[in-house]
Amino acid sequence: MTQLPGLLDVEAIRKDFPVLDRQVHDGQKLVYLDNAATSQKPRQVLDALNEYYERYNANVHRGVHVLAEEATALYEGARDKVASFINAPSRDEVIFTKNASESLNLVANMLGWADEPYRVDHETEIVITEMEHHSNIVPWQLLAQRTGAKLKWFGLTDDGRLDLSNIDEIITEKTKIVSFVLVSNILGTVNPVEAIVRRAQEVGALVCVDASQAAPHMPLDVQSLQADFVAFTGHKMCGPTGIGVLWGRQELLEDLPPFLGGGEMIETVSMHSSTYAPAPHKFEAGTPPIAQAVGLGAAIDYLSSLGMDKILAHEHALTEYAVQRLAEVPDLRIIGPTTAEDRGAAISFTLGDIHPHDVGQVLDEQGIAVRVGHHCARPVCLRYGIPATTRASFYLYSTPAEIDALVDGLEHVRNFFG
Ligand code: ALA
Repeated sequence: MTQLPGLLDVEAIRKDFPVLDRQVHDGQKLVYLDNAATSQKPRQVLDALNEYYERYNANVHRGVHVLAEEATALYEGARDKVASFINAPSRDEVIFTKNASESLNLVANMLGWADEPYRVDHETEIVITEMEHHSNIVPWQLLAQRTGAKLKWFGLTDDGRLDLSNIDEIITEKTKIVSFVLVSNILGTVNPVEAIVRRAQEVGALVCVDASQAAPHMPLDVQSLQADFVAFTGHKMCGPTGIGVLWGRQELLEDLPPFLGGGEMIETVSMHSSTYAPAPHKFEAGTPPIAQAVGLGAAIDYLSSLGMDKILAHEHALTEYAVQRLAEVPDLRIIGPTTAEDRGAAISFTLGDIHPHDVGQVLDEQGIAVRVGHHCARPVCLRYGIPATTRASFYLYSTPAEIDALVDGLEHVRNFFG
């Protein structure tokens, strides 16, 4: 097997992930390269979910009985784990949501309903980028339509990076919020947070970072990012589906209004009006995703036991190897940075004029799981004049042999389509 410097002990790690042993299509070994869509789950997370339901299941914050208290301790314990994983100054800054989309919608709605100085209205501007996932485009379009605010965005360079050459014209005194992705899910680009935050701070704009493709893959420190909000999701980082996180600066969470109303987010309720619980509960209406939070906590324990810096080094080595091997495939064009520098482990490409859906189908017949389509980032495909891409994305259990299998598989696709 190809050995690369910086790899984790993948053989041992893969034993934790039962699904990676699967065969598909009558005996093909599964090569799972769709990690940017969702990661697989280690036994430790599956066990934590099972244990929660078998021993502790109860509603949280409501009961006086043992199970309710234990479930509450587990749920709030997961919040502590998230806070420490992202180096949050306070656990009260960690809001549990359903996914990153809900986290980003929450920020947009907080600002839409806020009073001055945060309110987004017809005299203000919202800034995003052309490489956003739809979940960081549509909520801002909705907010702009509702309030009359102007939506602006950074364009992309030909090599898949943000074009910041006009940063002073895009982020102006009118900008209320700049919301952008840390690592692109389609291009793999890692964005220069510091330059954007510096300019946003100069004009007094808030900054929201979509870290969905960063939190699973690299150390994430919300204090050093210097953003005001950071959103990510659990299912891409070995956790279950149905759990997301919004981190927000404490003073903002105190000032900003809730979005969803209901049980658990209140202090008192009368038939005329209500007052709200302090953050984070103000933003967690209704029964929260309890088991899912517990599962996310177990995922964080798992990732932390391996070390996020080691996971980053592993993926960097794989990405370097992958861009080098993919360059050997005739007619293959990487959409996004073509070196491993400042890029994550999601690599999108086109293969001559073979439609990505055909590429994906022939790869699937060989047991190789990739994602095809516009990856919920259609403006990127429009920018590069392509209908879709094929995307291979790696994680902590991916191996150089799987990259070799992908390259061989693509050769087969080329032969198949003549
Ligand atoms: N956001 C996920 C992806 O990029 C679903 O595939």
